[in-house]
Amino acid sequence: MEKKNIDWGNLGFGYVKTDYRYVSNYKDGKWDEGGLTTDDMVTISECAGVLQYAQTVFEGMKAYTTEDGHIVTFRPDLNGERMEHSAARLEMPVFPKDRFVDAVVQTIKANAAYVPPYGSGATLYVRPYMFGSDAVIGVKPASEYQFRVFTTPVGPYFKGGAKPITIRVSDFDRAAPNGTGHIKAGLNYAMSLHAIVDAHKNGFDENMYLDSKTRTKVEETGGANFLFVTKDGKVVTPKSDSILPSITRRSLIYVAKEYLGLEAEEREVYFDEVKDFAECGLCGTAAVISPVGKIVDHGKEICFPSGMNEMGPITKKLYETLTGIQMGRIQAPEGWLKVIE
Ligand code: PLP
Ligand code: COI
Repeated sequence: MEKKNIDWGNLGFGYVKTDYRYVSNYKDGKWDEGGLTTDDMVTISECAGVLQYAQTVFEGMKAYTTEDGHIVTFRPDLNGERMEHSAARLEMPVFPKDRFVDAVVQTIKANAAYVPPYGSGATLYVRPYMFGSDAVIGVKPASEYQFRVFTTPVGPYFKGGAKPITIRVSDFDRAAPNGTGHIKAGLNYAMSLHAIVDAHKNGFDENMYLDSKTRTKVEETGGANFLFVTKDGKVVTPKSDSILPSITRRSLIYVAKEYLGLEAEEREVYFDEVKDFAECGLCGTAAVISPVGKIVDHGKEICFPSGMNEMGPITKKLYETLTGIQMGRIQAPEGWLKVIE
């Protein structure tokens, strides 16, 4: 298969239309057979549930070319499971996990020419999503839905790739206690848009959200979980019911313990203790691990000893091991890589 003529090394994190996408429709209480299409346009009622009341959930994952030339994706079963939980929380029908994985595999396979070559620094981002498609005007769930998967080749989420970023503590909240912060719903991102535009205007790459009830504990950013390293080399990630259960973060905790022999714990992290950590990073599918060099809290700076030029040493080991597993350079734990072809 011939690859598309794309300047892989200079891709940003943007949308590039690829050839195929997967579509399945839910009507009269069941999902249809579904399949691939070349049509990238969606036609729905002007009064569709997604347009009026934001009834939509999504996932984000990547396909990689491994060192030995296979195309793989990473733990798609966990994305399928998370989308089941997201859908249930918004009173949407569940698109079953096994069908989810099958749809993702079909879509990646059909767009194999867009999967960036090994070593190019780019990957194929895969976006499964689902929305209420029929008319609702009273506040209630839609009765018809569409599930889709598209792909787009991407480069690094933050400009500069592995260069440490600067973030600020946000005055805006991302998620309420007992709200929807733990699911991947479009509404969580809509409400973060003002905060991120404002952060960028003020020279910051991202926002650190604190828990909205006490504003004392670290939650996450708009699109990634946090990972910290203590001065004695322990990996710590914030635990909260209102953050997204990141698949990257869960994988990194395993990698830290089982591959690198490090101590790793998931626990509540108070903002007051952040100044004492040696390293800080953001982890997620899009972010991979993006090192944080500086956190600014209303003019007060926390500068991590790892500095603004390089990833901290433990963050780097985690990054290299995780990407090594994803690109087939390091043996993956059983079931982590789904080979597409
Ligand atoms: N937190 C938020 C708010 C996200 O949007 C994402 C991205 O998916 C993550 C965390 C990271 O999750 P994952 O590692 O499963 O991609
Ligand atoms: C992902 O990492 O897949 C996400 O969905 C984050 C998003 C902000 C791009």
